[in-house]
Amino acid sequence: MPQLPTIYLDHAATSWPKPEPVWEAMKKALDEEGANPGRGGHRMAREAGKRLMRARMALAELFHISNPIHIAFTMNTTMALNMAIYGFVKQGDHVVATSMEHNSVRRPLEQLQQRGVISVTYVETDRDGTLNLKQLEQAMTVRTRLVICNHSSNLLGSIMPISDIAEIAHRHGAKLLVDGAQSAGLLPIDVKSHGIDMLAVPGHKALLGPQGTGALYIDPSMDVEPLIQGGTGSHSEEAQQPHTRPDRYEAGTPNTIGVAGLEAGVRWVLNESVQNIYTKEWELSQLIMEQLSSISGLRLLGPQLGQPRTGIVSFVSDSLDSAAIAHQLDREFGIAVRAGYHCTPLAHQTAGTLGQGAVRASVGWNTTEQQVDEYVKAVRAICTRD
Ligand SMILES: Cc1ncc(COP(=O)(O)O)c(C=O)c1O
Repeated sequence: MPQLPTIYLDHAATSWPKPEPVWEAMKKALDEEGANPGRGGHRMAREAGKRLMRARMALAELFHISNPIHIAFTMNTTMALNMAIYGFVKQGDHVVATSMEHNSVRRPLEQLQQRGVISVTYVETDRDGTLNLKQLEQAMTVRTRLVICNHSSNLLGSIMPISDIAEIAHRHGAKLLVDGAQSAGLLPIDVKSHGIDMLAVPGHKALLGPQGTGALYIDPSMDVEPLIQGGTGSHSEEAQQPHTRPDRYEAGTPNTIGVAGLEAGVRWVLNESVQNIYTKEWELSQLIMEQLSSISGLRLLGPQLGQPRTGIVSFVSDSLDSAAIAHQLDREFGIAVRAGYHCTPLAHQTAGTLGQGAVRASVGWNTTEQQVDEYVKAVRAICTRD
């Protein structure tokens, strides 16, 4: 067995370990519901189908979605974002995004722009990730059909004012796509009251499901072309992809076992309450910030102490390379963090760290104060060596 980290602070990439009910649910699904959902009338296939619907209902409860059929399962956030972007934009559209976006938003947008399909404006936030709503408004044009916004930055932990952004998008006749990779399970999300038209989320981060799970919510009023077409187990006599949801967006055999784990993860989150999870992670992030700020030569990124943020704390050292610090944390102390560009060079450019990258620690459901203390002690030891 490979040596496991003693302290895992990379929950923003993938949460680990998972609460016990998650792997119990996956084992049960594999043992008892292992058939292909929606592709047969026999009992086990029907059980697998019910399992998918129960998971959809759990997600609908978490995000206040009135009808779960408007949620499609995906492999991850990236796939959900690609489905939303490629399925919605049309020739001549203008898209507004922010300088906090992840490559899973930026790369599809850049490709569509390069092909001459769309034009894109990235609204620059300030160094700590705060968006100036006036600048967002100024970026809107008569051709803007889509605004895309990362709910919480995977570099800075900063939080976007989603309702205000939705209000501006809608006033200009555009739709809002929210990248919930770093907020689903950590921040309250209510698609109706926040005005979210499409929501892309991972199953494998704070929703505590396994890798290979994610979801896309599409408002029932929207017409989004399916990115992937094929067998759905329904309307098989027709040559075209069906219009009924969720089948329209779920061609091919789904990850039923993974979705069973995701359902258990979402139920765990619902049981704990998003507010309590946020409060715990916020308190841990404040502890990391307080302690790291006493180490000379470090610059902490993102919102100031005392401000809202998710459980991500990134820093740069004025003398040491970020990758070297992360490597030593792993090798000498058994502490897993993530260094480099975190797939978001735009955010690094905004934070002024594009040349050097940053060290990112991200806490999760099982992180303790003692682990945080150990982490900071290790950073101090590395950064104050002669
Ligand atoms: C803000 C943000 N968007 C998108 C993604 C991509 O998520 P996934 O790995 O689920 O595709 C990530 C991953 O870390 C992220 O942090």
